[in-house]
Amino acid sequence: MELKKRVGYEAAKLVNDGDVVGLGTGSTTHYFIENLGIRIENEDITILGVPTSYQSFFLGRDSGIQITTLEEHDVDIAVDGADEVDPKLNLIKGGGAAHTLEKIVDESAKRFVVIVDGSKIVSELGSFPVPVEVIPQATRTVKKHLIDMGGLPQLRMAERKDGPVVTDNGNFIYDVKFTIKNPKKLEIELNTIPGVVENGIFSQIVDEVIVGRDNGIEFLKN
Ligand code: A5P
Repeated sequence: MELKKRVGYEAAKLVNDGDVVGLGTGSTTHYFIENLGIRIENEDITILGVPTSYQSFFLGRDSGIQITTLEEHDVDIAVDGADEVDPKLNLIKGGGAAHTLEKIVDESAKRFVVIVDGSKIVSELGSFPVPVEVIPQATRTVKKHLIDMGGLPQLRMAERKDGPVVTDNGNFIYDVKFTIKNPKKLEIELNTIPGVVENGIFSQIVDEVIVGRDNGIEFLKN
C-alpha cells in the first residue's frame, strides 16, 4: 500500500463513534477521509467533520461525514498532513494554500495528529519555503517586510488559471525561503506584518506524528 494511504488509514483508527473530527487538507489526508467514509458505511457510526478547505469539505461530504463548523462544535481530534516535520514536531504546512484554516482547526483540537511519509521528516525546517497568506492590497508592502526579515518571497502562481493563486479566503500566497533557527519566533514575527493573514509554520501544537516508512509505521510523540 502507498505510504500516504497507510498512514491515512492508520489515523482513521483513532476516530471513535460520535467524534467531531478536523478534516485536514492534501493528498495524505485524502486517504484519512476516504477511510472514515469506509468506516461510516461498514460500522454504522456517526462522524462529524470540520473541514479545513473546500477540498476537505467536498471529500468529507461525499464520504458520508456530517459537516459542521467550529461555531457549533469543539474538535475532538484533528488529522492533517505536513510539508516538513522537525525533531520537536514543529511543522511547515500550506503547500496546498490551506494553512490558515488548517491552523485554526488543528490548534483548536483536543488532539492534533499529523500524518506524513518519511520524506517529510527533516532535521531543521526551511528547505520547504514558508507559505504566507496575504491580503491582496498588501502584496507590495508585505514583500518589503519579508525581504527585510531575510526571506526570499515568491508570489505563488496558479496553474490552469492566469495570475496568482487565490486562496479559499480570497487572498494571495508568498512562498518564502528562510533559514529557520527558531520556528516559534519566526511564526510570531511573520504574523505581525500588517496584511499577513497567517503563515505556514505550526510550532508546538502537534500531539503526535504518524510516519509511513518502507519498513513500517513509526509513531512520534511530544
Ligand atoms: C495544505 O495547504 C497543506 O498544509 C497540506 O496539508 C500539506 O501540504 C501536506 O500535503 P500532502 O499530504 O499533499 O503532502
